Parts: sequence; C-alpha cells; structure tokens
Amino acid sequence: MAKGPTLITIKRAINFGTQLKSFISFMHMILQSLKRYLCTGAIIIFFSLGCQPKSPLTSDILGVTAENAMVVSARKEASAIGLSVMAQGGNAFDAMFATELALAVVYPYAGNLGGGGFMVYRLADGSTGSLDYREMAPSAAHRDMFLDSLGNHDTAKSTLGGGSIAVPGTIKGIFEAHKKFGLLSVEALINPVIELAENGYVVTQKQSERLAQYRDIITQTTGIQTLYTQEINPGDTIKNLALAKTLRQLRDQGQEAFYKGVMAEHMSHYIQAHGGVIQSEDFERYKVYWRDPVSFHYQDLTITSMGPPSSGGICLGQIMGMLESYNLGDLAHNSALYIQHLTEAERRAYADRSHYLGDPDFISIPTQKLLSRSYLDQKMTSFDADWATSSEDISHGPLIGHESDETTHYSIVDPMGNAVSVTTTINGAYGSKLFDPELGFFYNNEMDDFSAKPGTPNMFGLVGGAANAIAPGKRMLSSMTPTIVTRQGQLWQVLGTPGGSTIITTVLQIILNTHHFDMGMQTAVNQPRMHHQWLPDILQFESEGFDAQLLDSLEQKGYKTIQKEHRIIGKVDAIMRHPNGVLEAGADPRGDDTALGF
Ligand code: GLY
Repeated sequence: MAKGPTLITIKRAINFGTQLKSFISFMHMILQSLKRYLCTGAIIIFFSLGCQPKSPLTSDILGVTAENAMVVSARKEASAIGLSVMAQGGNAFDAMFATELALAVVYPYAGNLGGGGFMVYRLADGSTGSLDYREMAPSAAHRDMFLDSLGNHDTAKSTLGGGSIAVPGTIKGIFEAHKKFGLLSVEALINPVIELAENGYVVTQKQSERLAQYRDIITQTTGIQTLYTQEINPGDTIKNLALAKTLRQLRDQGQEAFYKGVMAEHMSHYIQAHGGVIQSEDFERYKVYWRDPVSFHYQDLTITSMGPPSSGGICLGQIMGMLESYNLGDLAHNSALYIQHLTEAERRAYADRSHYLGDPDFISIPTQKLLSRSYLDQKMTSFDADWATSSEDISHGPLIGHESDETTHYSIVDPMGNAVSVTTTINGAYGSKLFDPELGFFYNNEMDDFSAKPGTPNMFGLVGGAANAIAPGKRMLSSMTPTIVTRQGQLWQVLGTPGGSTIITTVLQIILNTHHFDMGMQTAVNQPRMHHQWLPDILQFESEGFDAQLLDSLEQKGYKTIQKEHRIIGKVDAIMRHPNGVLEAGADPRGDDTALGF
C-alpha cells in the first residue's frame, strides 16, 4: 500500500457562486435519479430544507412527507444518496449500503468504515429479521486488559487509541445485506459515494463546533496532523481523497479487500503502532450474523427490535411490558406521574440489563423469561406513585458500560414497502480518535462497551456485569435499538437514535408519544425527553421543555434529578406510515438530520 501523506484538500467555500454550484449539482443528482418517477408523473418530493421545523420543541409539526420512499439520516448528503439509489430502482437494502458509506464521508463523528452496527428489517411481505455487524474483540484481548497496576479501570486505555479498537464490522455488514437482498450493483451504489468524497461536502456549524472540541485529542492520539485536525470552519468544503481511494478498492475487489490482504495488514500494523493488539487474522476471522430479532406486543402494536448482543430489544420489551397495564394515555404527557411510571420501569429493566445481557454466543440469556408477563408484573409490584424506589433496592430479578452518545441512526422505507432500520457507531465521538490518513477514516473505541471491571461503572455511568466481561472474539453489549413497529399488521414506524444508554428510553418515548398521545412522527421526535438507567440513580432531563416546578415535585417524591445546560437526549431519525399510506419523517432538529422522500 502506498505510503506518504494523504491528499487532503480543504477549501473555504466563501464564494456564493461555489455554493450555488454545489447546490445546483446536488439538486441535479436528485432530479436525475428521480427521472423514472417524474416520467410516471407519480412523484411528490418534499425537501426538508423548507419543511424542517424551525423550533425544536413545539408541537403539531408535520415532518417531511412522501408517497413512495423515504430516507432519514444525520446528513442531507447521505439521505440524498440513499434516496437516489431507490429512485434508480434500488430497494431499502441498496439504499442502506449507499447511505451507510455516505455517512462515513460526511459524518465522521459517527458514520464509519471503522465501526459496526445493527440492522432490523421488515420486508413488504411482513417477514422480519436482523443483521448483527457489531465489532468483535481481537484474539489477543483479555478480561483485565484495561485495568491498571492497582486493578482499577484505566478509562484512557479503553477509550483512546489502538487498544480501544475492536475489529470493525461495517463493511462486511453492508456487503452481506446487499448480497442477500440488494438489487443494484455494488458499483452503482459506491460510485456516488466516491464522487461525494472527491467533490467534498460542506461543513455545518454544528460539525465545525464538534471538530474544534475534539481537535486536540485527535491530534494527540493520531500523533500527526491529519484531515480532521486542521482548522475547519462552517462553510468549508472537505474532500477526503484517501477515503475515495479506499472506496474504489471496495468497489473493485469487494469486502475481501477490507478483511484480507494488503488493507487488513495495513490496519493491523497501524493499530498496533498505536498500542492496539488487533492482528490481520482478526480481520479474516470476523463474521456477521443474521439473528432473530426480538419481537413483542404492546397493546395493538407489534414491536420488532435488535436482540443481543444489543440490549436494545430486550430492555425496550421489558420497559414496555412493565408499562402496558397502566393507562399511560390517561396521564398528562410528560407530567410528574407520567415520568414516574417511565422512570420506575426503566430503572427495573436496566438492573436486569447489567446482569443478564451480553454476547449470546458466549453466555446464555433467558430472553423469554425476561420478557414474560408474570416476571414483569412482579417487578412493578414495588412501584409506589408517592415515593421514588431507590435503585439500591433494585437488583436483577430472582430468575435465576456506559455507551457513548455519538452513534448514528438512519431509517429507510422503499417504494416496494420494505423497511430498514439501522444504527451504526464507532462508539465515542470520532471513535478512538485514531484517524487513518491512508484509508481516510476513524477507528472505533468499541472495546469500552465491555465491562472492563464488572461491577464498576464505565465512562457513561452504566454498571456492567460479568456477562459483558471482555473475552477474545466476543462482541460487547450495546444499547443500539433499531426498531420497526407495526399496527394491526401494517408497517407503522421505522425508528432509532444514537445516545448510548439513552437510546432505549428515547425509542420508548417516541413510541409512547405516537401511540398514546396521537402525535405525528415529527411532533413526537421534537418532544423533550428524560432518561433513567438504574445506576447512577439519577433522573436526567433535557435542558429544554421541563420546568423547575416539575423537577421540584419529583424531588419531593425522592427522585434525584439533573438538568444540565445544553443537554440533549437522543437524536431520532424515524419514519411513520400514516393510515392513508403517506410516509412522514421525524428528522431530529437536535442535529443536522434530514429527511428526503419522493
Ligand atoms: N456504542 C454504543 C452502543 O453500542 O450502544
């Protein structure tokens, strides 16, 4: 593999002409791709540029709507590429392939080639499934690898640089999904992404702020100045030519180019040079798994979500199972009593999460019992509306890590009626902060999602158990909750969010907002959110939308509340199919998230 500096070009797009040109070419790409539909006269396009809500937390806002197909993701360029694939006759799985890679170009904060993820799908015929392309611990990993000489968890080791990196799964994941379900050629899917990496994307205000926040740690970790350690301002155009070259290799040689031979050799050497233990054989050994999703009922809804090694589906099923017999729709939305119900169910489910959940190929998980009605009812018998339960009094039932906020989610519905819900991550913001200038991407720091020292909290405050201890070849427990909801047998919602341990409770709140309070998807997404995760025993609130009086009333009942400035919980990208068949997006105004449809 050629050595030497990666070609990097950053141009300040201060010239209005340049901006106009790139906008016109963006529109041209979409319109070209949509020609088929234009010809039939069946097209309705609503661009989020004009339709996105201006105020994040107001109610009754209709999101972007479309008749046939929709992509909602963290960036407009990624949504546009996914949509254009479907306009050319591709399906949701083709769109997944292209959207995932496009996010790696335009959203390096969480979009990735160096990470992993989970996909839940529902085909037009109603069948469902899920794909686990979660990262895997390298063969040289061991249980105590992140403990210092005193036996304490060294969080720098598990979060920064080579040692924090697990074997990436994303490339194998998208190629497998495409092999099983895709319609278009890999070439047709990758070419527009290569063009995007070569022509560049325009940095937003939020992106520039985040890059500034992490610039020093990225420089320290990588050890040299690279593409993302230069000063980058809003309006700058970033071209990632190294990534374009990597993508060309994947286009020409397939996923094997990543997992075998020169590229795998390069990655293992580079990671080892930065303190890691991944060997090239670890790349060869990496596998993805088609797994049965977790499916459960809540009143007239059927919810299909991700099973282990994600805790998302089981934990969501437990919380909803505990809440099902309460008439939540009779309570005022986000009132103290409503929040108490959610909190008490959340705390009880998260206690089980730390004890029972981990990689199903390494431990035995009593899924059916964890989701059984009698077990869940029993857990709620200690709920007292007058007083908070203490998390100290809650443990896992008698049956028998902090994840990072910086993941990303996208939702897709195609014109054939297939739906795909994908959450993908490099864990922390810019993952391990180790950027590979030759290949053009950041590596994950997913090893931190293991319990480095069972019983002690990880960097997100989540207390892990032995079930999630590090072992060679094992997958670390996740909270990612890509979810699909049907109502009376019909597709109703495709949803998910980043947010580490808050992912599950965010997905919960969107489903409850829509089901009990008749909100449309954008309105549901815009609502303020809260979160409780058993330990630490703290009830968290977003900074906007909950007043001091509400928090006081909860404090008086014994809840410890926290409402940090600028705190957001989750960043949901979702689609709802209304009874008349119209698709409505919920693109979270907390980020640059964008819905596009036709
Ligand atoms: N790394 C975030 C998660 O897997 O939940």
